[in-house]
Amino acid sequence: MSQPLLEPIKLHDLELNNRVIMAPMTRSRAVGNVANSLMATYYAQRASAGLIISEGSQISEQAVGYINTPGIYSAEQVEGWKQVTDAVHKEGGKIFLQLWHVGRMSHPDFHGGKLPVAPSPINPNDKAYTPEGFKDTVTPHELTIPEIKQIVQDFKTAARNAIDAGFDGVEVHASNGYLLHQFFVSTANVRTDEYGGSVKNRARILFEVLDAIREVVPQHRIGVRLNPSMHGGFGITVNEDTIPTFDYIVEQMNKYSLAYLHLTEASPANKDVPHIEPQVAKRYRPLYTGNLIINGGFKQKTGNQVIADGDADMVAFGVPFIGNPDLVERFAENAELQQADPGKFYAPGPEGYVDYPTLAEVEA
Ligand SMILES: Cc1cc2nc3c(=O)[nH]c(=O)nc-3n(C[C@H](O)[C@H](O)[C@H](O)COP(=O)(O)O)c2cc1C
Repeated sequence: MSQPLLEPIKLHDLELNNRVIMAPMTRSRAVGNVANSLMATYYAQRASAGLIISEGSQISEQAVGYINTPGIYSAEQVEGWKQVTDAVHKEGGKIFLQLWHVGRMSHPDFHGGKLPVAPSPINPNDKAYTPEGFKDTVTPHELTIPEIKQIVQDFKTAARNAIDAGFDGVEVHASNGYLLHQFFVSTANVRTDEYGGSVKNRARILFEVLDAIREVVPQHRIGVRLNPSMHGGFGITVNEDTIPTFDYIVEQMNKYSLAYLHLTEASPANKDVPHIEPQVAKRYRPLYTGNLIINGGFKQKTGNQVIADGDADMVAFGVPFIGNPDLVERFAENAELQQADPGKFYAPGPEGYVDYPTLAEVEA
């Protein structure tokens, strides 16, 4: 039986060998916020993915929200990432860097006591993962307009750094309750200036970020990640504004010739929540004219099906790539998958990171 997941695809000038995309995953192995040779090994092991999207990488010191996550704002960080991109390219892979700003999900412990930043001073009432473990989030500092403009510039500089570090492109992390998502959501953003209020105003920062990045990275090497049906956690809840906001964002994205739009499905537990879009790919496939990646709980069978149904062009797999560096080969062989150990997702060191064997190693 032929598998749509294993068909090649062209993202403008970038040819992917297959449609099995490695989803961005924070793994907290970047000691001192700099990528290292252990990370190069991990990503190179997964280079048969059609495209690897790196873990979220903070665009500035202000953007950080977790320990041992890599940055992309200093010369040392660019050098660190070069090992990763070289190793992936040597194995014939392609890799984008995910540009990340956590906004109010950070904590004063990361900033010498200074508050994390957000569109509005609204505490997400969740937990931040600080160097001393989980702590309650705080009420963030409301960004001034010059501070917002600086963040847009930080995205641009970080994107240029990513290209200098050898990445094939960048993905703007506008999902999962982090800074850009906080701007979109009317319960997190109650601003009364041009960054709040109307749908257009709440979406504005994303398009400013895209316009800034495309001055330094060809737009067909820029992807965007959105999570329109995120509900619960990080203070993000859907309401009557949610679907109109994401419809607007996706339609505006058609004005750009991006590498792709990367969407996440609603969690199965939330499908009946009022105002939620329970079928994200089905809603946004007809609205978006470019390449679409869908993610969230997909398996080999459902991944092949969603492409065969015409609801997406590619599928991003997260946890399946942790336990199966050769996920593509395993799909090709219809082989069993290995289970990943969640206890090691963010643990330091090589265990549960680079020690999952390939099928060939298991059979040897
Ligand atoms: C350990 C772990 C770390 C993650 N880190 C990120 C991240 O840095 N950026 C991001 O956009 N999503 C992140 N995610 C979400 C994944 O990209 C993906 O959306 C999620 O795992 C669902 O896909 P799956 O069902 O195929 O695993 C992470 C998920 C996991 C399990």
